Amino acid sequence: MNAVTVRVPAKVNLQLGVGPLRDDGYHDLVNVFHAVSLFDEVTVVPGELSVAVEGASIEGVPATPDNLAGRAARLLAEHLGVEPEVAITIRKEIPVAGGMAGGSADAAAALLACDALWEANLPFATLMELAGTLGSDVPFALLGGTALGLGRGEKLTPLPCSGEFHWVFALADGGLSTPAVYAECDRIRAAHSERVSWPHESPALLAALAEGDAEALGAALANDLQPAALTLRPSLQRTLTAGRDFGALGSLVSGSGPTCAFLAADATHALDLAVALGGVGVARTLVRASGPVPGATLL
Ligand code: C5P
Repeated sequence: MNAVTVRVPAKVNLQLGVGPLRDDGYHDLVNVFHAVSLFDEVTVVPGELSVAVEGASIEGVPATPDNLAGRAARLLAEHLGVEPEVAITIRKEIPVAGGMAGGSADAAAALLACDALWEANLPFATLMELAGTLGSDVPFALLGGTALGLGRGEKLTPLPCSGEFHWVFALADGGLSTPAVYAECDRIRAAHSERVSWPHESPALLAALAEGDAEALGAALANDLQPAALTLRPSLQRTLTAGRDFGALGSLVSGSGPTCAFLAADATHALDLAVALGGVGVARTLVRASGPVPGATLL
């Protein structure tokens, strides 16, 4: 085989319940992932191990084999007992360090693409296991759709989801570091002597997904990392408030931020919302997307 391309979606967290800090430095999560139609494309061809990155906003993405996509290729090669001889090109549309799992998506895409390039045809379960060792969000990028993630977020169960949900994403200038946002969440909790209770999935949110009820979903969106993201980036409060003022059914910081997500009633409402938000200068760029969409897919 000469070249393989995989398309892979971004995610938004519909519920991100963060439990206590574990001994291994991670937090146990109740994480409802939702894959949306913002995609990166990863192309692999035979060659010396290398990573190239293309796209409008790619600042900070390493164009070296240390890129998570390069690490994915090395991990798979090691598992198969072959040399990681692959040149990887990433075409980025997913915001960098934006809380939409762009790096994880590229790793998932590289795994699937190299599996095809090297004609390994590993079982999906094996790819999911390898994905889990690369990062907490990598397995979901392979799976796609809407899913509940427990543990670090890597123990996934697909969730029933009816219809299509329409989103507007407000992309910010610069990223936020995921470890820094988790650390800030721990700091805020300690400062308030908060007893961190075990997170539970929200029955209202699961019912809204199953019924395709956008209004109920908007009311149930929740992210325990949001206060930490707002402390580190106070300007996001204005962005969230503007979305609510312009009639979003729900709004929240996506994952560890700084991207903000707004749920619209339908595609027309999403367009209106994006235009209104664009007029008040609360974001670098506004993009519309819908979900759920499939996970990493061979083109
Ligand atoms: O797994 P991944 O490398 O994507 O996680 C990045 C960082 O996010 C971790 O090093 C940790 O600081 C934080 N994290 C966490 N608990 C999780 C997932 C991630 O504290 N469940």
